[in-house]
Amino acid sequence: MKFLPLVFLSLTTSALARGGGGGGSTKSQCKALGRLTSLAALVSNETALAEASHNNATRAEALKAKASTAATMLTTLQANVTLVSACAEIAAVSAMEDACEQMSRFAKLEALAANATALGAKTDGNATKAEALKAKAAAGAAELADLRGNATIAAFCADQKTKDDCKHLAKLTKEVALAANATAVQAKFDGDADRIAKFQQRAAKTQGKLAALQGNATLMAICAESKGEYRPAGVFVVTVRLKLLC
Ligand SMILES: *[C@@H]1O[C@H](CO)[C@@H](O)[C@H](O)[C@H]1NC(C)=O
Ligand SMILES: *[C@@H]1O[C@H](CO)[C@@H](O)[C@H](O)[C@H]1NC(C)=O
Ligand SMILES: *[C@@H]1O[C@H](CO)[C@@H](O)[C@H](O)[C@H]1NC(C)=O
Ligand SMILES: *[C@@H]1O[C@H](CO)[C@@H](O)[C@H](O)[C@H]1NC(C)=O
Ligand SMILES: *[C@@H]1O[C@H](CO)[C@@H](O)[C@H](O)[C@H]1NC(C)=O
Ligand SMILES: *[C@@H]1O[C@H](CO)[C@@H](O)[C@H](O)[C@H]1NC(C)=O
Ligand SMILES: *[C@@H]1O[C@H](CO)[C@@H](O)[C@H](O)[C@H]1NC(C)=O
Ligand SMILES: *[C@@H]1O[C@H](CO)[C@@H](O)[C@H](O)[C@H]1NC(C)=O
Repeated sequence: MKFLPLVFLSLTTSALARGGGGGGSTKSQCKALGRLTSLAALVSNETALAEASHNNATRAEALKAKASTAATMLTTLQANVTLVSACAEIAAVSAMEDACEQMSRFAKLEALAANATALGAKTDGNATKAEALKAKAAAGAAELADLRGNATIAAFCADQKTKDDCKHLAKLTKEVALAANATAVQAKFDGDADRIAKFQQRAAKTQGKLAALQGNATLMAICAESKGEYRPAGVFVVTVRLKLLC
């Protein structure tokens, strides 16, 4: 059970890479598949059809005609097993990305609600607004707990975070190296002293962020191993497992 999500994640990554390599076609085909599937479901449900056509029989007939014309295309798309499974993976990744965002939003709200100083600053000392934010955080608490308790989502979000951190690390490293190179800075800003001063101020902050990331040895090792091109840890495990199986 524990390995299932990892297999799933690695397949997902490769499916997305394939989709990316073959142009946006898989994604657009998935969109078409989704639209046509919804349309077919709509016209086969009298209640939903009446709602969608605002009880207008002419509109309902038009929708049915549209669905009928599209039926062949839907059948063709559905018959493509590669496409259908790629679409399922894309949808699953998209849902998990949404879950990560949701989790991050709720977590921020939770931290805000628990920090009187931050809450006061955010609401300009308005107790009504502060209470409303607390209520919102409380309302999201159950969903946050559910998201945090889901190992698949947690693993996916952690992988995403590491991936983002590695990208961030590479970017900050470049910025800091540039700031340390007077020749390069002069050239980049055409010797404009004001812009250079601003850039150096920013670079000082960047240095702090970079140091924080660099302070995480685990992260540094993962980013180095992936040589800038991060791969989720799960892929290595799965590759080994598949080799053992084959
Ligand atoms: C099935 O879908 C895949 C992915 O979009 C595509 O590469 C392939 O050409 C399709 N096969 C057929 C027979 O249409
Ligand atoms: C038909 O559509 C209605 C309204 O959208 C929905 O409540 C119902 O569950 C649908 N029925 C089926 C069998 O999908
Ligand atoms: C039904 O929809 C058609 C097509 O959009 C429109 O011409 C007609 O006026 C509508 N009928 C009613 C009763 O709203
Ligand atoms: C609370 O928020 C303030 C202001 O944003 C911040 O300086 C402080 O570190 C936070 N306290 C905790 C415990 O996170
Ligand atoms: C506090 O916020 C509430 C809700 O946004 C608003 O109605 C009220 O006027 C505010 N009170 C003050 C003192 O600004
Ligand atoms: C965890 O999340 C995944 C992906 O969204 C979902 O398929 C699965 O059902 C969830 N598991 C539980 C126990 O809720
Ligand atoms: C360090 O990075 C790893 C990999 O991204 C992460 O799992 C861990 O939580 C990080 N540790 C801290 C203290 O941020
Ligand atoms: C500084 O930047 C210049 C111009 O981009 C480059 O030629 C030089 O190698 C850099 N010096 C160092 C120490 O990286």
